[in-house]
Amino acid sequence: MSQAPISIQPGAAPAKGDGLRAGPEHVAIIMDGNGRWAKARGQPRAMGHRAGVEALRRAVEACRDLGLSELTVFSFSTENWKRPPQEVETLFDLLRMFVRSDLQRLHRQNVRIRIPGEREGLAADILQLIEEAVALTASNSGLTLNIAFNYGGRAEIVAGARRLALAVREGQLRPEDIDESMLGASLWTAGSREPDLILRTSGEQRLSNFLLWSGAYAELMFLEVSWPDFEHRHLAEAIEAYRRRDRRFGGVGE
Ligand code: IPE
Ligand code: IPE
Ligand code: MG
Repeated sequence: MSQAPISIQPGAAPAKGDGLRAGPEHVAIIMDGNGRWAKARGQPRAMGHRAGVEALRRAVEACRDLGLSELTVFSFSTENWKRPPQEVETLFDLLRMFVRSDLQRLHRQNVRIRIPGEREGLAADILQLIEEAVALTASNSGLTLNIAFNYGGRAEIVAGARRLALAVREGQLRPEDIDESMLGASLWTAGSREPDLILRTSGEQRLSNFLLWSGAYAELMFLEVSWPDFEHRHLAEAIEAYRRRDRRFGGVGE
């Protein structure tokens, strides 16, 4: 296999002496509600997406401030192609603009950028920007920012399964040797720890195909706030609530 065999790391450490658990280390966010936010203001949906980029900048700052090691954000799903072409183009333009305008600053802030998702079907200039952002920041040791772009949890598992199937066909792998850590290591999100906490804004209570594999045991929280209104305090409150949760991973608790 071409990819280094890095397995997904298990979740955060168990509770500390004060009864509150440590962590989370890795928070993942489904940044939802841009369109409704704009509509409520009589604005086109694109305005909501632009305000969503500002909220992403605030979220990255909040994660650095609160000492998280990893942030994964859902910015374009494999299902978002169903939207009108003009809106899809807006979302692609915003990724272009974000990388062009923020890459150098994020690099100076020691942020490591990764962009898990399907590459096929992306325009050449987007592919180039993705490659540039990932390569420039690859050895940074601060916050890891995963921008899930053209990402779908099912597509990710299919891609991983395909990669393993190819290795079997090439005679490099026996089917009976395939286990969870090997499949995890063949995913787009390989090398990430499992998200401890998945947040979704805008009140919707579903995963919409986000992190189906690595989020198997993530704590879920659904916030009423629309993504463009997301502030530091929303993240701080979610982290506080997370610390009171009892994570059992199928066991009997702490
Ligand atoms: C999230 O906001 C951004 C993306 C899905 C790309 P939406 O565009 O889904 O906003 P709502 O859910 O329609 O309000
Ligand atoms: C999920 O939001 C995808 C992103 C936030 C990028 P959607 O708005 O696309 O999800 P559904 O359609 O409400 O499930
Ligand atoms: Mg939505």
